[in-house]
Amino acid sequence: MRKSNHITWHQATISKKDRHLLNGHKSCVLWFTGLSGSGKSTLANAVDQALYQHKVQSFCLDGDNIRHGLNKDLSFRKEDRKENIRRIGEVAKLFVDSGQIVSTAFISPFQEDRELVRSMFLEGEFIEIYLKCPLQVCESRDPKGLYKKARIGEIPEFTGISSPYEAPTNPEIIIETDRMTIEQSVIKVLSYLKGKKIL
Ligand code: PPS
Repeated sequence: MRKSNHITWHQATISKKDRHLLNGHKSCVLWFTGLSGSGKSTLANAVDQALYQHKVQSFCLDGDNIRHGLNKDLSFRKEDRKENIRRIGEVAKLFVDSGQIVSTAFISPFQEDRELVRSMFLEGEFIEIYLKCPLQVCESRDPKGLYKKARIGEIPEFTGISSPYEAPTNPEIIIETDRMTIEQSVIKVLSYLKGKKIL
């Protein structure tokens, strides 16, 4: 489909800064990336819950959930993963523009796709959080039984098995989820936000 030439950007009356003043905190995206089973959904939700308890305007976007609705037309081929991440980036940007702290939990295996999302945001608004966990540990956790299926060829292009995962080269935060508890990990993320004066 070709893009129309007859669309114009409309400047919002209430700015992002106005919303930051109202909320008493800045907005940003906490981009959790890592292998399946590395703890993305668990940690993104735990951070979201902690922010909520601190009366912060926050929300969580989760890979499996978004693929049930907005992105249900997309597969796990490289090009579809790219489009998946691009759309999530755009949605995350809407949340950031609305003054919220949005946590996203997507494998987002390709560096280039994550860099594209980073480029959509202002300096400091995109916080990449790499959930570093050895494949063997993720595979032993196998919470959904997907690695087992991938190993016997029932799931094609499964990240870490038959499709690559490119680890972030310069993430803002690294969490080794096989060495830290959820509580310690949440504290690490919240301390980062306080250090950067986002909270
Ligand atoms: S991606 O790579 O960022 O587009 O993936 P994402 O949208 O985060 O979706 C990952 C979840 O989809 C399930 N699933 C797969 N993951 C990886 N590879 C393949 N082929 C695949 N097929 C289904 C799986 O439940 C992933 O969730 P998590 O939470 O990562 O385990």
